[in-house]
Amino acid sequence: APPGLLQGLKVVVSAGPTYEDLDPVRYLGNRSSGKMGFAVAASAARQGAQVVLVAGPVQLDTPPGVQRVDVRSAAQMRAAVFAALPADIYIGAAAVADYAPRAFAPNKIKKTGTGETLALDLVRTPDILAEVARREDAGLKLVVGFAAETDHVADYARQKLESKRLDLIVANRVGVPGAGFESDDNAMTAFWPGGERDFPPAPKVRLADGLVELVAERLKA
Ligand code: C5P
Repeated sequence: APPGLLQGLKVVVSAGPTYEDLDPVRYLGNRSSGKMGFAVAASAARQGAQVVLVAGPVQLDTPPGVQRVDVRSAAQMRAAVFAALPADIYIGAAAVADYAPRAFAPNKIKKTGTGETLALDLVRTPDILAEVARREDAGLKLVVGFAAETDHVADYARQKLESKRLDLIVANRVGVPGAGFESDDNAMTAFWPGGERDFPPAPKVRLADGLVELVAERLKA
């Protein structure tokens, strides 16, 4: 067999949602299935990379040849990602919670007899991707992010490319049938400084192969 496109490279991929615990029985989560990130990790491994997959809570099998680290919260994901560095490529496909409860309530939060409302006190989670992209001692040659948007997909993606200082961002529309969260299919557009590539609707496993090809191209550029 010919050498893979990512032969000899180490790739760290994050995938899935994070769950931010409120109390022993409740959490804040999101609808990410982890399918896209797992497909990207599998594809990178098929192309000869050494792959560490940092996975939030998902119901998916570990792809062949991939080293998997399971985590629950954004804070745990951050720790696992940094523990996996240095690497050549970071692909942040996880849907990391943007906010987490300010404090974990060790006892179950009870309904109060009086109020009809309950306010949750939330704090920003660390932006793992932006932090990884700023790290200069991590050996990274390419940092790739994902952007799931309901509207203004290209504008928001280009903004994130710049603000998080990424080399590549993959944008997809969520909230439409046949794409985004939970779906086996997706459609996406990749943006990099000075270029873009459209990936028409296809199974996530096929799109992952296309993305890994693009990653290999951008590495050479
Ligand atoms: O800003 P937004 O969450 O839409 O950006 C999405 C990209 O940033 C994804 O690649 C996601 O994995 C990453 N991200 C992260 N840590 C966060 C929030 C997002 O790594 N706290």
